[in-house]
Amino acid sequence: MTVCGLSVFVVMLGLYVEYTLTDDCSTLTVSHGSLLVEYGEPVELTCSIPSKPSSQYILGWESQINPVQTDSETSLVWRSPGLTEWEVNGREMFCYLTVPNQELCKQEVHLTLYKRPDSVKISSESSVWSEGQRMELKCEIENVGPLQNLTVQWTRVDQNKHRTVSEMLYGSFSASGEESKSGNVTATLRVSASRDEDGVQYQCAALLKLEQLQQPQVGSSEPLNITVHYKPTITQPSSGTISLTHGDQLVLSCSAHGNPSPQYSWSSPGNMNFRTSSIFISSVQSEDQGQYNCTAYNVEGSDSVTVMVNVAVNYRSIIIAVCAAVAVVLLATLFRICCRRAQTGNYVLKNPTSHRHNSIVA
Ligand SMILES: *[C@@H]1O[C@H](CO)[C@@H](O)[C@H](O)[C@H]1NC(C)=O
Repeated sequence: MTVCGLSVFVVMLGLYVEYTLTDDCSTLTVSHGSLLVEYGEPVELTCSIPSKPSSQYILGWESQINPVQTDSETSLVWRSPGLTEWEVNGREMFCYLTVPNQELCKQEVHLTLYKRPDSVKISSESSVWSEGQRMELKCEIENVGPLQNLTVQWTRVDQNKHRTVSEMLYGSFSASGEESKSGNVTATLRVSASRDEDGVQYQCAALLKLEQLQQPQVGSSEPLNITVHYKPTITQPSSGTISLTHGDQLVLSCSAHGNPSPQYSWSSPGNMNFRTSSIFISSVQSEDQGQYNCTAYNVEGSDSVTVMVNVAVNYRSIIIAVCAAVAVVLLATLFRICCRRAQTGNYVLKNPTSHRHNSIVA
């Protein structure tokens, strides 16, 4: 009976101890379950138990860096005056409580160290490109980490302020250093130098995609302005024929897109050359008929357009002029005849003698 009673007591004691131990494990608390730490920042993690266990115990912090322990306190602080050890990333770190003959109690903590870049620079081999060339834009990010969480973001802003964003993930840029640590990065963006790229602004930024980081952008470059030189394309006039009539006004204006700004020249039928963008003739004559050629040019090349000008004789005005002339002649003749008669009359009135004489003659 006594043996039986003792064994029941032992079993009950065992259950009691197990119960209290489970209780101790759940009361082992840490100040942070996970913590994002900026490179060089001080860190303090506190581990505590509500009261001292009745038996011997050890409360400790297990870590790659500064492991600490106590056998007399109910609270233990793990600290780093300025965390710079990349080893904390992805390594197990925990607070533990050991009581002899009992299983270990532990609480894990996830520390994530990250570093903002020392600099983010954008550059290109040339500041001015010719249309059709392959532009290479370089983004150099110095001393940023963890590299595996880095994304390089490119922003393109065109002349109409329209933004386009593209991203390069780890693996699509060259990086020096281990992926879990910090290092230097060079990302290259290749763009074909089309005329659409002229006046565009590029910018690159470093993004760290970390769970607890609210603002992933940790650094950004200055904007880089792109200049693309391209040969002119004439927008006006279009080639064709203009039909005019003698005396009409002729206005030919040439304009073109190009960079640098195009210069213009016009050639006219009389083999005349004008270094202007437009031609003006206030009253065209038949010798103005023929081909007019506009050339727009710059360092990249030229474009030209030919306009045919026909000058028709104005038959209507000739007819009007002829009619007018005929009318004038007729009127003049009539006038002369009338005058002669009138002169004769006057003569008669002023000189009755003559009149008489004339009458005699008549
Ligand atoms: C990154 O670049 C800096 C400055 O050029 C250099 O001092 C440093 O050693 C480089 N770091 C790595 C990981 O290559």
